[in-house]
Amino acid sequence: MSMKISDQSMARIREVLTHYPVKRAALLPILHIVQEELGYVPETLEAEIAAIVEVPVVKVKEVLSFYTWFRQKPVGTYHFQLCRTISCTLRGHREMLAYLEKKLGIKDGQTTADGKYTISTVECLASCETAPMMQCNEKYVDHLSMEKIDQVLAEMK
Ligand code: FES
Repeated sequence: MSMKISDQSMARIREVLTHYPVKRAALLPILHIVQEELGYVPETLEAEIAAIVEVPVVKVKEVLSFYTWFRQKPVGTYHFQLCRTISCTLRGHREMLAYLEKKLGIKDGQTTADGKYTISTVECLASCETAPMMQCNEKYVDHLSMEKIDQVLAEMK
């Protein structure tokens, strides 16, 4: 996978920059564009992104580590993100995580050797009333249970 921002993405970035009075305000949308293209935001692009929005590289690093939405490592074809915030923890997130880890043979933060599945724990997915929550790529799975995990894994073979 290319570790460069493509010409198309650069064109989108230039367009996005026109919407903001100061360049640094465009940092989040630019990170979204990069992640959309590459699947994550590689560390090797942090300096380039920082230069585009005219902030120190450390600012880009801070934003990337603050928002768990942004990935700093490549992920598998199927990315399972389990919420680890309070409502989901109280409703059994740890048991669900342990079950998924056992089923896939990997731990939180890891990707299977075939590059197919990644497990991550993330902060609140904004659906606390249906905890425990898991996001699989773009799809939300609420009231997560072992049965639902089995079902999702069967769908995402
Ligand atoms: S606490 Fe898990 S979705 Fe909000």
